Amino acid sequence: MSENVTLLDKTFVKYINSADIDAAVARVAAEIMLEYRYDDPILLVTLNGAIVFAVDLMKQLDFPCRISCVKISSYSGTESTGTINSLIGLNEDIRGKRILILEDIVDTGRTYVHLHQMLTEAGAKDVRIATMTMKPDAYKADLPVHYVGFNIPNKFVIGRGLDYDGYGRNLPDIYQVVTD
Ligand code: IMP
Repeated sequence: MSENVTLLDKTFVKYINSADIDAAVARVAAEIMLEYRYDDPILLVTLNGAIVFAVDLMKQLDFPCRISCVKISSYSGTESTGTINSLIGLNEDIRGKRILILEDIVDTGRTYVHLHQMLTEAGAKDVRIATMTMKPDAYKADLPVHYVGFNIPNKFVIGRGLDYDGYGRNLPDIYQVVTD
């Protein structure tokens, strides 16, 4: 894949290559195995962005686990709107279950806080999160972020599931915006 990508009105430069992402996913999977091996957890995928991370991760989890999806949105273009929209909700009984949220990116943490509250109210035994990327400088929540592939600067990124207005999810590498 090329070093630069242009999507709509923005140019992005390659930032993390695919092999390094694979290695980070393997490391995170090993950490998750240690914690959840005997607990029959539900992996909760936040659509659409976390699909790629979830598929990569799940193939490396060698223990009984299930997967479920929710769709939440707080972004428009390259900005968080501050308003969380639940577009597809939880459709199963999670009472007494350990839930591991899978995210492509944790930015302000608003989505995570919203989901954590929703899952706790629905009776989850405990709620943790595994994310491919995290922007620590943008994070404003008090909840711990348990499993992190990469801590990255507070700049917009695409690729490996991450999008700019719907485009860029299919790129195997992660790219960072050149002009904000
Ligand atoms: P939060 O609620 O502010 O933590 O934002 C989480 C959501 O914002 C993610 O699931 C993404 O959909 C989106 N997001 C935040 N930063 C980026 C980025 O750099 N690229 C693409 N999407 C992002």
